[in-house]
Amino acid sequence: MDITSYMPVKVVCGKGCVKANTSLFTSFGKTCLIVTGGNSAKKSGALRDVTEALEKENISYEVFDEITENPYTADCHRAGQKAREINADFIVGIGGGSPLDASKAVAIYAANPDLAPVDIYSMTHKNKPLPLVLVGTTSGTGSEVTGVSVLTNSDNSMKKSISGPDCYSKVSFCDYSYTLTVPYSVTVSTALDAFAHACEGYFSSTANSLSDVYAEKAFEMLSEAFAFFMNDKSLPDENMRETLYIASLYAGLCLNITGTCFPHTMGYILTEDFNIPHGRACAAFIPDFIKISYEFMPAKAQRMSGIMNTDCDTLCNMIEILADINITIPDEAFERYSHRWSDPLKNFSRTPGNFTSASAVEILKRYMS
Ligand SMILES: [Fe+2]
Repeated sequence: MDITSYMPVKVVCGKGCVKANTSLFTSFGKTCLIVTGGNSAKKSGALRDVTEALEKENISYEVFDEITENPYTADCHRAGQKAREINADFIVGIGGGSPLDASKAVAIYAANPDLAPVDIYSMTHKNKPLPLVLVGTTSGTGSEVTGVSVLTNSDNSMKKSISGPDCYSKVSFCDYSYTLTVPYSVTVSTALDAFAHACEGYFSSTANSLSDVYAEKAFEMLSEAFAFFMNDKSLPDENMRETLYIASLYAGLCLNITGTCFPHTMGYILTEDFNIPHGRACAAFIPDFIKISYEFMPAKAQRMSGIMNTDCDTLCNMIEILADINITIPDEAFERYSHRWSDPLKNFSRTPGNFTSASAVEILKRYMS
């Protein structure tokens, strides 16, 4: 029995949790930079709740709202400069996975003026990042509870993650009511991302007894949500929204111990080149992953199916329908992908069986023209 884990974030959950805990902001200083994307922070009400909380606590702030989907290192670097200009004591990230992941990088750049955008990938910066507070507005990323951030390298437009003790927030506010305004397609995609985190973590060679508990809880909650998505195209009600958010946190807690496997690595290319949202892009490869897991870890795979009250074929079929991938990879791009991964790649080697870059290329052939 191994429950080795590290997760130093104070997680505050529930409807109205920002308003009810404004004093938590005061321990980090008197000035902050809020890092968000263009829209969801405002539409969800999260930005308003945060600015009211900061005003109540006499904390000054400025807003940097130029973070895009799949955030670029250059934009995070600019936000870091902005934080230094206003002498920010801490960073508040508000949004879905992109702004939350970006704000982790902003906190590092802000404290390390010597870093060029690309330098962040080496994670050898000298100074500790500024303290970071996160406020989630979607139910997928799990970034609120992980020491992981996925950034797009501005030099080559490729997605790559950074991770480690400097990628955790100090406090994460997790209020499902901010997800009530999330459109149907984003709700499905983010739920698929959460499922990918739990599923990849569950069958990874890095799984332990604690990550299994987290994953199984996520499976239980997400199976309820998937049944709903398959039968109903309407927006989930409040109870379902809460279920989805908590499921994404359980999945994030699993991922934080295990990391991800090949579906995440392969999903990056569908996002980069075909603009497919992250959750659906990873889910494109989850049926292959589940089939491999059934082959090499049948007892555990049966256990997952039992929790989700399904079987291998039905589950794979459901994920395919929800992911709804319809692309053709041109020969030119295929050539590029086949040279992209070189073994050993940790996301491949912790996959069950002997998964290599050649296995990944074989799977990709399905999408060739
Ligand atoms: Fe993900």
